Amino acid sequence: MAKRYPLNAKNMNTIIVGAQWGDEGKGKIIDILSKEVDLIVRFQGGNNAGHTVVTQEFKEYIFHLIPSGILHKGKICCIGNGVVVDPKVLLQEINDLKRVGINISNRFKISSLAHVILPYHRILDQLRETKRKHKIGTTGRGIGPCYADKIIRCGIRMIDLLNPRVLREKLLDNLKEKNEIFKKVYQHSGFDFSSIYKEYLNYGKIFSHYICNTSLLLNKAIELKKDILFEGAQGTFLDIDFGTYPFVTSSSTTAGGACIGTGVSPVKINKVVGVAKAYTTRVGEGPFPTEFCAEFAKVMREKGNEFGATTGRPRRCGWLDCVMVKEAVMLNGISELVIMKLDVLDGLKSIKICVAYKYKGKKFKEFPQDLEVLQNVEPVYKEMAGWPIYASKPRVYQDLHPNARAYLNRMQDLAGAKISMVSVGSARQDTIVV
Ligand code: GDP
Ligand code: IMO
Ligand code: MG
Repeated sequence: MAKRYPLNAKNMNTIIVGAQWGDEGKGKIIDILSKEVDLIVRFQGGNNAGHTVVTQEFKEYIFHLIPSGILHKGKICCIGNGVVVDPKVLLQEINDLKRVGINISNRFKISSLAHVILPYHRILDQLRETKRKHKIGTTGRGIGPCYADKIIRCGIRMIDLLNPRVLREKLLDNLKEKNEIFKKVYQHSGFDFSSIYKEYLNYGKIFSHYICNTSLLLNKAIELKKDILFEGAQGTFLDIDFGTYPFVTSSSTTAGGACIGTGVSPVKINKVVGVAKAYTTRVGEGPFPTEFCAEFAKVMREKGNEFGATTGRPRRCGWLDCVMVKEAVMLNGISELVIMKLDVLDGLKSIKICVAYKYKGKKFKEFPQDLEVLQNVEPVYKEMAGWPIYASKPRVYQDLHPNARAYLNRMQDLAGAKISMVSVGSARQDTIVV
């Protein structure tokens, strides 16, 4: 592995986004690029995310809230205002890091404007799913209800945890309305003010040292020519606007979300990198045109260890959909792609790649906005020859089998962005520079 990647994040502010339905391997890439930057900031989502980093020292580490760059000593890691924070999960994550000897005390910051997930958000998320005709398959972490409160302007923010009077007022006001809904609509007994109040005031005390104006901190860092990595969670097709609505998450997962979710202006962003798997996966419900048949999905799921990093649910698996990746390139302004898990395709006789869709006899290459159409499209595939299993892990681009290189070239042409790195294993060293 070269010391410097052609995909570098030095002297620039870079956004990393998922180009599919999440779990593309963003955690690994963020960990690798973190070495080159000064600050790493999460800008949306919450602990619905599960970002895996594999290192020799820490083995497998899964981050849900804290940026995946935290394992690199001296790097400042922020949770931006666009994130929804479950303090219970955050505390657990901080304690776990302490346990393995990672000191975060002076290099971890939380935006005072980030919204807080409360117990009623978690329960409402789960209850809503049971009532829905068409389930979304949420992670049940309270993400949607918390963002909903943010938008209807009754949310509680990190800064409120530092002010007992404000917290009391807001919580009382919320519980008054919510408990009635819980009882009448969901036949749930509702929530007790004093235990939540006590618990969350305590979080305020614990986190007071970390809560600050992170947009000021980030913008000052930019003035000082520091480099920032913006860590996206989920993926383009889980975006609240551009994803396969309603089978999406509740935040802006696309590159634009990085500015809204941090308070850094778009003019300060230099590059957007898209992370995509060499095939496609999705957790939860919703359309998936290139999904494998159940039998083959099982084989590939085991091969790729496709089980959710947050909920452990089996991930649905399918062929690479380049109509989607091309759309992601456009929506995010992706100039470079990183292709993950190419090794999972090793040993397949032939590989299919979706180049267009067919609907009611008509062929088209654009991602449809009508869910009805997407649910009923027939993928148009190009079939390509596979490659054998390698005797030893490929380390440089030339080590890759010519058929694997042809596959990557086809993907690059179809997606309309260059591939700058290819990943062939979960460890840092299993990374090939193109
Ligand atoms: P994220 O949410 O985008 O960060 O991705 P996840 O961590 O949820 O899922 C990616 C999974 O694939 C993790 O278990 C990684 O350790 C693993 N992984 C990452 N890159 C590779 C790769 O190139 N090959 C294989 N086999 N596994 C990988
Ligand atoms: P990372 O960052 C994959 C999916 C859920 C569900 C939908 C809505 O690890 O890539 P939510 O709980 O957000 O309301 O669920 O979004 N989902 C993810 N799928 N990776 C993720 O995160 C996801 N976060 C949410 O499975 O379908
Ligand atoms: Mg994940």
